[in-house]
Order: sequence, then structure tokens, then C-alpha cells
Amino acid sequence: MRKLPKIDDENIVASIGEDVAAYRFHNQLLLQTVDMITPVVNDPYDFGAIAAANALSDIYAKGGVPLFALNILGFPTNTLPLSYLEEMIRGGADKAIEAGISVLGGHTIDDAPKYGLSVTGYIPEGKTFVSKANARPKDVVVLTKPLGSGVYTTAIDHGLATDEQVKEVTELMIELNKSASEAMQTCNVHACTDVTGFGLIGHLTDIAEQSGVTIEINFKNIPFLKDALSLIQRGAISEGLINNQHSFRNHISKIHPISIDEEQLLFDPQTSGGLIIIVSEEEVDKLKRELRNKNVFGVQIGQVTSKQETNIQII
Ligand code: CO
Ligand code: CO
Repeated sequence: MRKLPKIDDENIVASIGEDVAAYRFHNQLLLQTVDMITPVVNDPYDFGAIAAANALSDIYAKGGVPLFALNILGFPTNTLPLSYLEEMIRGGADKAIEAGISVLGGHTIDDAPKYGLSVTGYIPEGKTFVSKANARPKDVVVLTKPLGSGVYTTAIDHGLATDEQVKEVTELMIELNKSASEAMQTCNVHACTDVTGFGLIGHLTDIAEQSGVTIEINFKNIPFLKDALSLIQRGAISEGLINNQHSFRNHISKIHPISIDEEQLLFDPQTSGGLIIIVSEEEVDKLKRELRNKNVFGVQIGQVTSKQETNIQII
């Protein structure tokens, strides 16, 4: 990324390092993001809906509202039936409708199946763009979905997952972060991002670095899918998890002892994970109430402190 030409444009509000690009155009703050993934579940309709929810998530993490989207997809015409493609696109289009937008076109290449959206959105008047760089000491950290989707989808890939586990993880990943974002925008939040490929620790590290703080996480408060630990013990460990562990393990210190399996769960890459919302102590009860009113899961998993030796402390 360092080799890219320097960008000089006073209308740029966010770029590399943020969940979206943000660009001021006349009096509007426009948002743009693109995300695509390989199949995480076997059902093509569900996969399409999950890929769309995953792509929309970056807009919601910034407190934005989506406007419209374009499909971006890979599809192997010689090895998969056309019905797979149709179902996948239908899943994405239905999820877009749930988000209040339409898919207005797109682009396909002949390749192994992959799907995602490029989403255009904006920040409504009177609302603010929620960055990663404004977490402050004494703030509280709230997470809006349990962790473990990477472990479950790896179990699916290995043929280890039961029908019930497939259902549990599909319901989790298919859920839009729309209501969580709306609840967040009723409060004076300081920072937010969505939990995706870098796992909980990777995304918390990003916020901690950009904000110049340390984040303490209370391990016993972290919510996991029911069978996440047992599946990890049965070997449902993705390459992404191992990569995250290598990249981020030096960023954590453990004050509270946790097992190797438990630690691995914190590095598990998520698909369409929840929001990490960082809010002042004074506003956290309001945030929790708003989340509850909208039927959104939300757990306080930690707090922000002034910068310590490591970005993350597990207490
Ligand atoms: Co993101
Ligand atoms: Co993304």
C-alpha cells in the first residue's frame, strides 16, 4: 500500500485503514465499500444473503445508510448449474431489499464461486461518520454478535457440522447490522468497526492503534456460539485463524489465564460479524437499551484505558 501514489484531495474524509471510503460531495458525505467472499455455507441462496449482509456491514459500522449496490461475482459456468448462480443472486437481492436498497447491476467473471457487493451509502444530515480513531480512556466496548462463525464454517467445510450448527451460524451471519447501527446512532459513540476477517483481536487492535489507547477485554464476558469451543477442539481451525494468531499475538497480554483453544477463538475470522461499538461510560446504558428495544444482541466485553505496553489486555 505504501507504494501507491499519494492522494491529495480535501474532500476525502476516510480512505485506506477505514471500513469504507468517505468522500464529501457538495453537502453530502458519500460512503463507498466493496467486499466479496467465497461460499461459507452450502446453500446458494443463504450464501448470497450472507455475502450481501457482510458487504453492507461496513456502511453500518460507520453509522451510514446504504443507497444502492452492484453485484460482484465469480461463477464457474462449466462446473456449477446456472440455478446456483440464480439462487445466490436472489439471496443477495432479497437481503438488499431488507436493507432498503436495490442491486442495480454488477459484473461476473468465470472463476470459482465468489460473491459480494459494492455498496454506495451516505451519512444522513445531523449524524456523524463513526471512525475507528476516537476511542478514549474509560470508554466501554460493546459487541453485537457472538463469535465463532469462522470455526463453524470451517466445520461445515470439513464435513463436521450438524444441521443444527449450520442453522445456528447461518442465522447469525445472515443478520444485517442495520438495527445495531441505528441503535448506535442514537448515542454519542466514539468509535466503531465490524468484526470480519481479522477476528476480534485484529479489529480491536486496529481501533486501539488508530485511537492511541489500550483495550481491556473481560474474557468471561465474551459471547461465543454454543459449540465454538468444542468444534475448535475437534480441529475446525481455518488458515485465516492461524494467520491472525501470527499477526496479532504480540499485541495482547494475558492477565487472566486462558487456554490455547480459548485464545484461538479470539483470533477466529468472522464472516458478517457484529459491530464493536465504543461508547462513553455515561452513554452505555442508553446504547444497551436501544439495542434491546430493537431486539439486537449486545454485550459489554471490555473497556478502554490509556495506552499500555500492548494494544489489548485480556483480564
Ligand atoms: Co469492516
Ligand atoms: Co470489508
